[in-house]
Amino acid sequence: MSERHFEDSSLAENYEKYRLQYTDLGIEDNALTFLREELKEDPQSLAVDVGCGTGQFTVLLAPRFSKVIGVDCSSAQISVAKQKAIEGNLEYREGVAEHLPFLGDNSVDLVTTMGAMQYFDAPQFLAEVHRVLKPRGCLMIGIFDVTNLSLHADTEGKNSTVNERCTSLCREIVNVSIQQLGENAQKMFYTVDHPSPDYPEFQSFSKRALKHFNGVHEFEGFMKSFGGLRTYLQENPNSTMINDYKERLTEILGAVFSSPKTTPLAYAMDLKMSMYRKP
Ligand SMILES: C[S@@+](CC[C@H](N)C(=O)[O-])C[C@H]1O[C@@H](n2cnc3c(N)ncnc32)[C@H](O)[C@@H]1O
Repeated sequence: MSERHFEDSSLAENYEKYRLQYTDLGIEDNALTFLREELKEDPQSLAVDVGCGTGQFTVLLAPRFSKVIGVDCSSAQISVAKQKAIEGNLEYREGVAEHLPFLGDNSVDLVTTMGAMQYFDAPQFLAEVHRVLKPRGCLMIGIFDVTNLSLHADTEGKNSTVNERCTSLCREIVNVSIQQLGENAQKMFYTVDHPSPDYPEFQSFSKRALKHFNGVHEFEGFMKSFGGLRTYLQENPNSTMINDYKERLTEILGAVFSSPKTTPLAYAMDLKMSMYRKP
């Protein structure tokens, strides 16, 4: 069964505000280049983004396909995605990755999943992708590479000790979140690997994504966007973990900056992208 750590509405709002945006990374261009020969013949092109969250990546597909569908098992995430959807060809649906009954056999040009594969039952998802993809259609899987994340004070005159300490604190927070997830999800996060379809045509690439936070308060919103951390806090309602992390970050920044609470921060992480073409 899939993990369901993204259910509540305040998490979805934090997700939308504070998590990575994919704008300007050109990931959708890579997918289109991989697909191009097949697509130019097809005025009915359809892309489906599975585990779409609040639609960060889904919206970038909308100008490139006749129709785009974002699917997520969290009604809270889908509700936020729908509020910002203005493109007429973009549709959001609540549903699970392992069962996509609203899609016909051999009907989809591109299936994407960004930062969500860890939460799926991978064999069931891949079987469903194989069913719905057109012959020569593509699957693009993006995995967050938490092994090389960084959190830096985003100011002139960088202080490497402060940046190392910020990064180490951020790793600790991410690890607490990952440890709330199932065994398969943890393994995928730490190996930065995932099950894949047995298709002969394959390409991979990676992109470094960046997110700026305007001070410790926004970093708090980022922490609150982590599904695993939210699950931990629901199970431990008296935990002071979020405040403790905020205080530790403020103290680290305070060693160098006069206004530690408002010091700008930059979070960066690689996205490992893999693309597969159905024969
Ligand atoms: C880390 S978020 C990634 C969201 C978005 N793709 C992004 O890149 O920001 C993972 C998403 O997967 C969704 N999810 C988890 N298990 C799922 C499943 N079995 N089927 C569909 N969505 C699922 C969660 O609700 C969550 O929105």
